[in-house]
Amino acid sequence: MEPRIVLGIETSCDETAAAVLENGKDILGSVIASQIDIHSEYGGIVPEIASRKHVEAIHPVVQSALAEADLGFHDVDAVAVTQGPGLVGSLVVGLSFAKAAALAAGKVLIGVNHVQAHLLSVFLENAAPPEFPFVGLVVSGGHTSLYLVRSFLNIELLGQTRDDAAGEAFDKVAKVLGLPYPGGPVISKLAENGDIRRFKFPRARLPETPCDFSFSGLKTAVMQQVRNMEHKGQIVPVEDVCASFQEAVVDILIEKTLAAAAEYGVSCIAVSGGVASNMCLRRDMLNRAQESGLKCHFPKQEFCTDNAAMVALAGYHLLKEGMSIGPDADVYSRLPL
Ligand code: KG4
Ligand code: ZN
Repeated sequence: MEPRIVLGIETSCDETAAAVLENGKDILGSVIASQIDIHSEYGGIVPEIASRKHVEAIHPVVQSALAEADLGFHDVDAVAVTQGPGLVGSLVVGLSFAKAAALAAGKVLIGVNHVQAHLLSVFLENAAPPEFPFVGLVVSGGHTSLYLVRSFLNIELLGQTRDDAAGEAFDKVAKVLGLPYPGGPVISKLAENGDIRRFKFPRARLPETPCDFSFSGLKTAVMQQVRNMEHKGQIVPVEDVCASFQEAVVDILIEKTLAAAAEYGVSCIAVSGGVASNMCLRRDMLNRAQESGLKCHFPKQEFCTDNAAMVALAGYHLLKEGMSIGPDADVYSRLPL
């Protein structure tokens, strides 16, 4: 089945999102309702609040995306919904809504793996997308993983974080520094005026499993540095801490992605997920890739953080291969990722 109009729905974390995609490429409507203001009060996502807010937002968000596309639900050929991984209570809201809507209107339903959706986000509104095979780095609040992407659906996991995700490290370091949630955007802003060499924070290289990551040692080192200075009554140079921390994260992400590209003999890399909107990562990854003779791709800024256009796109490719899910589907995605 090659669906013309796919409605994408995303509720894996704290964004309620819906998008309408035509012919697997044109975004006719895309709406994202963020809960960041609510969760920032708590310094992180409160899962119970997240799922309740999804319940309130899901219907208006889907309606707005359809209105933006100037379409009604009857015009939709298929519904694609994030089926995991993510917060279970949040996923259940999107999946239940999608199941009910698809069942009531007789539409095809497809479940999408959230990480696969991030990997494919680099194809959205991109006139010169990456060529297969490429090494894909997904770097977000929940994931830091490297993949060998052979086609839209043939995706092999090469390695992943053993502890914190890179975005999670940004969020935790921000908390230690008394900065708001989410930490990534605020740390990168402060880092602009900081000294990257002021603190020598550790980089976990993990030579035995070079495609794996670890950020917990880095996070702990930053926390200890900050606490030591506070203990001694010293003023914490927040901008320098941010710059030195960000440099350590960016360094290791670049080093491992380029090493994976060399190991697997690909000429193309793509970086996606919330942390891919980090300007320092974008600039340095592009430069270092170019020096190594690699083509480097990032999604547009708006498609780095969670959105439903990437879910609709991944769904479109799964549907084209004849895949679908039924009303008994649960939120534990069993797609091979
Ligand atoms: O992809 P995303 O919206 O949600 C997940 O699937 O996790 O990513 C959110 C994460 C948060 O941890 C946030 O701090 C991080 O992405 N982030 C950034 C930046 N913008 C968002 N990290 C570093 N620099 C940024 N500019
Ligand atoms: Zn995400």
